Amino acid sequence: MSLTIAYLPGDGVGPEVAAAARRALELATQESGPDFRFIECDFGGVAIDRHNDPFPAETREICTAADAVLLGAVGGPKWDGGRLRPEAGLLALRKALGVYANLRPVQTFAGMETLSPLKSDRAAGVDMLIVRELTGGVYFGDREEGTERARDECVYTREEVERVARIAFEAARGRKGKVTSVDKANVLATSRLWRAAVEKLHKEEYSDIELEHVLVDAMAMKLIQAPGVYDVILTENMFGDILSDEASVIAGSIGLAPSASVGETGAGLYEPIHGSAPDIAGENKANPAGAILSAAMMLRYSFKEEALASVIEKAVQDALEDGSGTADIGGRDSCTSFTDIICQALA
Ligand code: IPM
Ligand code: MG
Repeated sequence: MSLTIAYLPGDGVGPEVAAAARRALELATQESGPDFRFIECDFGGVAIDRHNDPFPAETREICTAADAVLLGAVGGPKWDGGRLRPEAGLLALRKALGVYANLRPVQTFAGMETLSPLKSDRAAGVDMLIVRELTGGVYFGDREEGTERARDECVYTREEVERVARIAFEAARGRKGKVTSVDKANVLATSRLWRAAVEKLHKEEYSDIELEHVLVDAMAMKLIQAPGVYDVILTENMFGDILSDEASVIAGSIGLAPSASVGETGAGLYEPIHGSAPDIAGENKANPAGAILSAAMMLRYSFKEEALASVIEKAVQDALEDGSGTADIGGRDSCTSFTDIICQALA
């Protein structure tokens, strides 16, 4: 059986890390598992340069017909201040795929606690999953640009909250059984709807799960004070964007952090959390681990290949334990040499 993967290298370090993820996928599945066909598409800044559109129609067609989408990263100073932004392409892609739940696991790798900016005893054993709503909220509301006055509208419907909350509760069932829902219900109407919808779903269908509500400002603090107490963190689009960057460094580097974006049906979207890192683009310095671990998430969530996903994750963990790694985690490897080390375990 051949499965189609839309392959979107994107901008900056995107092509370097996406190539690593693709290689890991090809190696991990060479003996058994699905047979992948990659279709490379222009996306982000490069697509603005070539097609005057960050998400050209041809890319859209390939992505919506694909079995999964593998993305590097988008954006860069070259397109700052332009009429078209690469990031707009990413939002349109998420919307087109209907991937309303963004899963961002944060785990401290055993023996790697010293990489964390936190004291090692706080960083040890951290294992949380951030479930970020991805296709609603202020990212997609009505917008008014302006030099004197500007406006970004934030809208949520009960249905949008329920469907992503369901993903969080289901994930908690397979983990430690706890959901922390983050909002700003002391100020925002959308947050009060959020809290009420999460409460109702919990009461009706997930009373076996422990549920707590935490205000987003307090959450930013608690994540640093006691990251080890969290299991699944559920939150809306923008709070999730901010908190997932904060949480990712607890494990040592945002370069290690993968993500999966999933919806009801159709292709999932897999991308590392980090951005295009224009300062090191083209220098073979980027950490490929976040992208490679995103490939593992693709095997798990889109193709139900749990065993193959674990093989990739173990290869990354072993490489880290052996002291390999790129500069962001204090290592001496390049992007390609670190990829080689991880891939040796897959070949
Ligand atoms: C992320 C990124 C994107 C977001 C940007 C590039 C639009 O920061 O995936 O977290 O804000 O969602
Ligand atoms: Mg972000």
